[in-house]
Amino acid sequence: MKGLILSGGAGKRLRPITHTSAKQLVPIANKPILFYGIEEMAAAGITDIGIVIAPTTGEEIRQAVGDGSQFGVRVTWITQPEPLGLAHCVLIARDFLGDEEFVMYLGDNMLEAGLSAFVQRFVSERAACKAAGGSEPPAAQILLAEVSDPGSFGVAEIAPHGRVVQLVEKPEQPPSNLALVGVYLFDQTIHTAVANIEPSARGELEITDAIDWIINEGHRVDHEVLSGWWIDTGKKDPLLECNRLVLGTFSRRVDGDVCGGSSIEGRVVLESGAKIVDSTVRGPAIIGSGTTVESSEIGPYVSIAADCRISGSEIDNSVVLRRSTVTDIIGLTDSLVGRDTVMSRSAHGDEDRGPTRLSVMVGDHCRVEIG
Ligand code: G1P
Repeated sequence: MKGLILSGGAGKRLRPITHTSAKQLVPIANKPILFYGIEEMAAAGITDIGIVIAPTTGEEIRQAVGDGSQFGVRVTWITQPEPLGLAHCVLIARDFLGDEEFVMYLGDNMLEAGLSAFVQRFVSERAACKAAGGSEPPAAQILLAEVSDPGSFGVAEIAPHGRVVQLVEKPEQPPSNLALVGVYLFDQTIHTAVANIEPSARGELEITDAIDWIINEGHRVDHEVLSGWWIDTGKKDPLLECNRLVLGTFSRRVDGDVCGGSSIEGRVVLESGAKIVDSTVRGPAIIGSGTTVESSEIGPYVSIAADCRISGSEIDNSVVLRRSTVTDIIGLTDSLVGRDTVMSRSAHGDEDRGPTRLSVMVGDHCRVEIG
């Protein structure tokens, strides 16, 4: 079994962060989203992985992942010249995939459950059908999750007998509340499917349409409904929710320096080389190596990457990327702050003003002065 991770796309819904960086490299609890997917594959025993990248952000992703050896996998890079859809990715990955079965994983999706059981079910189901002879093995296996806004996803219609009968991409009138999670298992039937579908209204070859084609051709598509959480991290608030969920699984580990009258409460990961001075950090939270927090209140649900400087500020439910500085900002909440960004209180601001709440999504290399 091979793996195919889709890590192209423009990341429009995470602009301005994605003007300068790939959405799959935005960190969740200080680790790029994409790395969780690669680790999941490795844990499921899949070590031959193709990663589809865009010409714009591909190089940055290649640099971050390297040859895959840090994850115990071997990576083949596949460049998608234009964002022509998820099924188009399968089309251009044909040489890499050959006729092998594969798991396809959208690089901005995160799920609580690992891949192993899902993959194992497909493998054993196919083996059982072949052994028994006669009954057709599943050509694909999809993962579904109940959502409140099915119109934003691919949606499955399940017949009373329990089989998937139709899949529609972002329907105006969703036939159910079951969204397609960005993890799919395929045999070689998918290659015929992607060659036989037409671009959708958004001009993309949809993987949803390709699986629907497989069903219409009379092949078997199995499904599973997720019980744990699943998040498509492509927008700020789901990304922050994912950050909360992952931080919530961490245990306390204080390797950095805690100085002055500081207090570290609950499940806080303080990396070695981080420094907390006269501050309170409330878990769940993670503070990266080389970061200094001074005279501030951090947490809960905050990830501050490496080499940041936070002083005189209060931050909760937020993600701050590498090398950024936040000075004298009270009530920074529900925010995503890019790399190398400087946020501060204007020198001309009203010093007596009471606490405020500030929720922002700021890109890389920005300067933000609050009056
Ligand atoms: C894509 C798929 C959609 C699926 C979703 C999961 O949507 O087209 O069917 O439900 O990923 O994250 P997109 O992120 O391209 O809007």
